[in-house]
Amino acid sequence: MEEKMKVMGVVGSGQMGSGIAQLGVMDGLDVWLVDTDPDALAVGTDAPRRLRCTSNLKDLHSADIIVEAIVESEDVKKKLFSELDKITKASAILASNTSSISITRLASATSRPCQVIGMHFMNPPPLMKLVEVIRGADTSDETFRATKALAERFGKTVVCSQDYAGFIVNRILMPMINEAFFTLYTGVATKEDIDAGMKLGTNQPMGPLQLADFIGLDVCLSIMKVLHTGLGDSKYAPCPLLVQYVDAGRLGKKRGIGVFDYRRVPESVKP
Ligand code: NAI
Repeated sequence: MEEKMKVMGVVGSGQMGSGIAQLGVMDGLDVWLVDTDPDALAVGTDAPRRLRCTSNLKDLHSADIIVEAIVESEDVKKKLFSELDKITKASAILASNTSSISITRLASATSRPCQVIGMHFMNPPPLMKLVEVIRGADTSDETFRATKALAERFGKTVVCSQDYAGFIVNRILMPMINEAFFTLYTGVATKEDIDAGMKLGTNQPMGPLQLADFIGLDVCLSIMKVLHTGLGDSKYAPCPLLVQYVDAGRLGKKRGIGVFDYRRVPESVKP
């Protein structure tokens, strides 16, 4: 199946979708980038001819694989998967870049659960080396092999996860970020010291609070809720401070402010 992949659809032209589309173009695929928000699609206007931007989902009819990268909401994603199932060709793979939502449940919104898979790129997709591939309960070996081969064509290393909340990376990363919020919330240390402590003390390229800002605090909160519900343990309860920042619209770098203020970046938090 993978040898025949020539056309890729990407739905959602935000932080992740635009980067995934860029990988496809760089690899020589014809890429259709779909978003409901015309402003989000403006990122593609200077791109090469192989990248076409549209708000019409039906333009994906010729795609061999569609990578969904819209808002991290199970209901919204399920509705999209149901629509994609109706308008894409029967052989097309429907992949989700979800950070934590069950692939099995997304697959249940389609008539082709064996062709539904998780293809979880890291942020930013063009730079990060990993793609986590998640097999739903009914994902076929053929779908898995084709998706893995495409990620490898993009120069990525693939790890395979079974379909449980948070998969591999966010199962481990998000509780650490949430704990950094609790450390701030309970007044143990300043945000600068928390990040410097983890950055220099554990040899990470950026501290957990800044990383949360780069991921998006709304995305972090959604993932914590999925871990909390999916794994049924109070240790995954989202920190009230994280909830409050999201309520206040402080969503991180994409909004100019999250834990840190990116409208005037202090030296201490520059990557
Ligand atoms: P974002 O908020 O930057 O972009 C989402 C885009 O989807 C927006 O442009 C929005 O207009 C569009 N959209 C929303 N509903 C739509 C629909 N029904 N049809 C078409 N377009 C629609 O979000 P981001 O950060 O790019 O995240 C997207 C997905 O990738 C989420 O599932 C997230 O969990 C996942 N992810 C995010 C990472 C991150 O670091 N931000 C890392 C890995 C995965």
